Amino acid sequence: MKNKVFLQTYGCQMNKLDATLVTEALKQAGYGLTDSIKDADIVLINTCSVRRHAEEKVLSHLGHLRHLKENKPALVVGVIGCMAQRLGAELLKSKAVDIVCGPTQIPQITGLINETLLQKQKSIAVTRQVRRKVSAKQSLALEEFEFAYDTDDKQLPNQAFVRVMHGCNKFCTYCIVPYVRGPEVSRPPKAIIEQIKKLADRGVKLVTLLGQAVNSYKYTAGEKTYCLADLLYMAAEVEGVEWIRFVTSYPAEEFFGQICQVMAGSPKVCKYLHMPAQSGSDKILKAMNRRYTAARYLNLLDRAKSIVPALTVAGDFIVGFPGESENDFAATVELLKKAQYKNCFIFKYSPRPDTVAEKKLPDDVPLEVKRKRNVELLAVQEKISGELSSQFLNKKVKVLVEGLSKKPHLNAEDKIDQPQLIGRTAEDRIVVFNGPRDLAGRFANVKITKTSPLTLFGELTKI
Ligand code: 5AD
Ligand code: SF4
Repeated sequence: MKNKVFLQTYGCQMNKLDATLVTEALKQAGYGLTDSIKDADIVLINTCSVRRHAEEKVLSHLGHLRHLKENKPALVVGVIGCMAQRLGAELLKSKAVDIVCGPTQIPQITGLINETLLQKQKSIAVTRQVRRKVSAKQSLALEEFEFAYDTDDKQLPNQAFVRVMHGCNKFCTYCIVPYVRGPEVSRPPKAIIEQIKKLADRGVKLVTLLGQAVNSYKYTAGEKTYCLADLLYMAAEVEGVEWIRFVTSYPAEEFFGQICQVMAGSPKVCKYLHMPAQSGSDKILKAMNRRYTAARYLNLLDRAKSIVPALTVAGDFIVGFPGESENDFAATVELLKKAQYKNCFIFKYSPRPDTVAEKKLPDDVPLEVKRKRNVELLAVQEKISGELSSQFLNKKVKVLVEGLSKKPHLNAEDKIDQPQLIGRTAEDRIVVFNGPRDLAGRFANVKITKTSPLTLFGELTKI
């Protein structure tokens, strides 16, 4: 009988993609998958280190697994992802953990599980010097592993993430990513486009290109240096793919104009830009080692909006960064208002081990102040989101249907053959409507009849 794996994943889209790759590799190696931890012979936790809270959730989960193992000693538990790289052998000290595998080592995951099952020994694979360029051998292993990726229809039907680069070289002073995911390495454009073709052949309609600072993508082959704009252009040529998105953009001049031009010129490239500002105060931006001022950030947005008139933007902010005064926070509120984001992710600053901010800047904004600023900024954003959403009332939008809506929003008495579905527009707006289940993975047109800050509601309609 097949050994069954339960895989739980925390964190960003990079991590979700890693989880999909690992799932695929496990299936190919003959493992079964289960949604129930009780049925599992192997539990894998794909972890995130970006904020302390994310790590605490994993540690508490490991606590439960330790109890579970008392009754089921043969259970194998593996920690993969960013926390595995950050804590390494430290994690193996826990009774709960048998395998530790960093993000660069995921191609080895099935080997590590086989070994642990056979030899009943703990095993670890992490990078010793994470900022060193990955070896050619490792790079090839990662490339092959990535390429083997099939779509996992259980997640979002006919949608796929494609990594265009690993790591990050930006070193924002608060951020742990460069220390756990290593230096920036762009994948060869040929491999990326081949992969998109393969996914399109399997019915994928929306491809999201992924990179920590995706607009830094740069790959030289012979005479030519490819940038993200080239990738978008080539991806748009792939038959079958209808929408292409890219996340996350770093506010930088390089390639910016070219990227906006492809967005404006290609109907397949979604008019959507996720470009975090993090703060609106020049003093804080400098302390964060973000390499722009608030004025330059807004100028980039203006340029983007002048090239792509219907552009939708989303952002991230950190509140309570060391030294953030009421004035600095007021500057953030100001920038947020000017940017007119569709939505924003707002985080309370969380000091991360070994980052410059953690080592050099005291975490001097009290938690209550961080909370208060978080709530205040969210409220300002909610108002803006509400206003922008309301412009969709009575309009028709095209959505790619994701499947059944998880939280019923309206029409609790839905007909059985017309359950409540959820879809997203090209610009990443959430749309809820009633329709047949088999629309999942397909495009639909919806007339908007009601709006809220983060969700549009409507009825299926012909074009
Ligand atoms: N504390 C709080 N938020 C953080 N982010 C990254 N590092 C931290 C940290 N130490 C946020 C940034 C980034 C998003 C993915 O997470 O806003 O854009
Ligand atoms: Fe972290 Fe900055 Fe790199 Fe984003 S760009 S992953 S915030 S270091």
